[in-house]
Amino acid sequence: SLDRAIRPATLADYIGQPKVRSQMEVFITAARQRGEALDHTLIFGPPGLGKTTLANIIAREMGGNLRSTSGPVLERAGDLAAMLTNLEEGDVLFIDEIHRLSPVIEEILYPAMEDYQLDIMIGEGPAARSIKLDLPPFTLVAATTRAGLLTSPLRDRFGITQRLEFYDVADLTTIVQRSARLMGIAMDAGGAAEVARRSRGTPRIANRLLRRVRDYAEVKGDGVVVQEIASSALDMLAVDRQGLDHLDRRYLQMLHERFDGRPAGVEAIAAAMAEDRGTLEDVIEPYLIQQGYIQRTPKGRMLLAKALQEGVFD
Ligand code: ADE
Repeated sequence: SLDRAIRPATLADYIGQPKVRSQMEVFITAARQRGEALDHTLIFGPPGLGKTTLANIIAREMGGNLRSTSGPVLERAGDLAAMLTNLEEGDVLFIDEIHRLSPVIEEILYPAMEDYQLDIMIGEGPAARSIKLDLPPFTLVAATTRAGLLTSPLRDRFGITQRLEFYDVADLTTIVQRSARLMGIAMDAGGAAEVARRSRGTPRIANRLLRRVRDYAEVKGDGVVVQEIASSALDMLAVDRQGLDHLDRRYLQMLHERFDGRPAGVEAIAAAMAEDRGTLEDVIEPYLIQQGYIQRTPKGRMLLAKALQEGVFD
């Protein structure tokens, strides 16, 4: 797919997240030098910042295969057992949305992570028996939007934890320029910066907007993405100058109008917006908090002055 074409394959190609990159460089190099599997790694952060990309890079840098699954997909013990018994030495097992793992599956994961042991019950009633199998040394890379939702026994079994941050405009501009080059899109620095400024600090959004801006440049312009073209295209897509999207603005507007500047519980905001609470907590709020529009307080979410100054409401 096109996504595959623009996804960085090595740490050297990975732009931004300097702390994550420099730490992982050391841990990966050390594990390789010792001929060991990398320690189990937990990656958390808002959607679209490159958790899956990083799992891919880890597998590649460690010279292993990547086997991918996700918390909700692993319903039965046998689902996880099948994944584990297919692993070869040095492989990476990637479990996305690890916070949605069932307790039964989680119990199987503990000995697998600690001792590379698979320990499961097969059959039922008097015929039930337990099977123990040795697993090859492997690395579990797990991703979650919210580390707070993991049980502490599970969290404690990761030797490495990385938190992905929103990208600043400079790093996001570099990512957009790299994607444009790989996709054969003609774009100048102003065009790239405009897309970057209006992408909520998120490469997935930047790469999506880049495709739409290219469409616009081909139809309304001469095919070259300059700043003015990017800006008009993004206006058309209702991405505002602050880089907030429609949901961000509805959230801020709700806090402002319904709750009149008073702190509001996330449940109340979600009900008022007819949105899922998890979407607000995982997707909307992290960016608004990082950008200083809102604050989480013990009494609830509060609007900050920045939200009132910039005219961010629809
Ligand atoms: N595409 C998405 N995230 C990226 C990153 N961090 N570096 C380079 N390209 C990317």
